[in-house]
Amino acid sequence: MISRLVTQRACLDHAARALADVPGMVLEVGLGKARTFDHLRGLFAGRALYAFDFEVHAPKRLVPEPETLFLGDFRETLGRARADLGRNAALVHADVGSKDRAADALLAAEIAPMIGALLVPGGMVITDREMSGAGWTAVDLPSGVSGDWPYFMYRAD
Ligand SMILES: C[S@@+](CC[C@H](N)C(=O)[O-])C[C@H]1O[C@@H](n2cnc3c(N)ncnc32)[C@H](O)[C@@H]1O
Repeated sequence: MISRLVTQRACLDHAARALADVPGMVLEVGLGKARTFDHLRGLFAGRALYAFDFEVHAPKRLVPEPETLFLGDFRETLGRARADLGRNAALVHADVGSKDRAADALLAAEIAPMIGALLVPGGMVITDREMSGAGWTAVDLPSGVSGDWPYFMYRAD
C-alpha cells in the first residue's frame, strides 16, 4: 500500500505541474475509497472534478457531490460523461485495477477509447493498467515513484 500511494502521489503531482497550462476538468475513474480523489481535490483546486465507480464505498467526508458522480459500469458511464461533459478533460486518472489481470486488460482495452474521447489536446492519462489510445504517447514516470508498483502515464496529441 505504501508503494502504491507513493507512486500515485508522484504521478499525480507531476501531472499537476505538467498540466498547469492545459485547462480542463479532472476525472477520477475508480473512486474506490477516495484516497487519490482526495489528493486530486487539493492538487487541482478550482477545476471541475468528476468521479466514476460502480457504487460509493468512500468514507463519508470524501463522498463527491451527487452531481459530480457517475455511478455504474465505466463502459456505460464514460459514454454518458462524453455526452454530458464533452471533450473537456485535462487529466483522467484511471485507477481501475483488480486482482484479475486478464479481466483488467479487457476493461482497459474497452475504456481507453472512451477516455480518449474525453481528453483535450495535451491532456494526460495516468493509470494503474497499461492502455493504448489513438494519439497517446507514453510519458516517463517521474522521479519518486516506487519500482514496486507499476503505473503508466500518457499524453494525448
Ligand atoms: C483500485 S480501486 C480505486 C481506488 C481509489 N482510486 C482510491 O484511491 O481509493 C478500483 C475501483 O474501480 C471500481 N471498478 C472496477 N471496475 C469497474 C467498472 N467496470 N465500472 C465501474 N467501477 C469499476 C471498483 O469498484 C473500485 O472501487
